[in-house]
Amino acid sequence: MTGKVLVAYATKNWATAEIARTITEVLRDEGVDSVMRPAREVGEIQAYDAVVIGSPLYEGRWHKDARRFVRLQREALSKRPVWLFSSGPLDPSASERDIPPVPAVRQILIRIHAKGHVTFGGCLNDDAGGWAARMIIKSGKGGDFRDFKQISAWAQRVAAELRGDVVARPRES
Ligand SMILES: Cc1cc2nc3c(=O)[nH]c(=O)nc-3n(C[C@H](O)[C@H](O)[C@H](O)COP(=O)(O)O)c2cc1C
Repeated sequence: MTGKVLVAYATKNWATAEIARTITEVLRDEGVDSVMRPAREVGEIQAYDAVVIGSPLYEGRWHKDARRFVRLQREALSKRPVWLFSSGPLDPSASERDIPPVPAVRQILIRIHAKGHVTFGGCLNDDAGGWAARMIIKSGKGGDFRDFKQISAWAQRVAAELRGDVVARPRES
């Protein structure tokens, strides 16, 4: 099946939105009809055959927009192929090894029978808003750790799974 794919994302400082955009573009390049939408703006998902949900990690959990989206669409999501991604670590760890979902995201994965999850490196730029973000930047721990080659490769594997190709499992935990 390919059908139409929704890439729903939450974001505070745009890092995750840019990851979602890359995934959407790669899916399209792979011949999969895809649209990206902020999770908070998505109503019904009946028009979509598969869904990718992405969220940044803040204080060890997903952004509230992504949590709310999953809560409201739980039943519909559990009837479709769904892949999850988290964007978080502000170091190269996500490029170096599989980082399992945080416990709350693992619960989501199980609850909606998602096909997989991946953690991508995060990004925190100097212009990020919020006191805590500024403290992290001030302590020299900001930066862009998104690995767009890794992101594209993951999206290609999702596309292959959607097409029903036999492929190695996407990096997931
Ligand atoms: C206050 C704050 C708390 C954060 N907490 C976590 C965390 O618990 N785990 C993690 O991996 N990354 C954490 N991060 C890093 C963010 O997840 C990362 O910057 C992410 O890419 C931001 O995405 P966004 O720009 O789409 O909001 C935190 C960043 C900030 C500013």
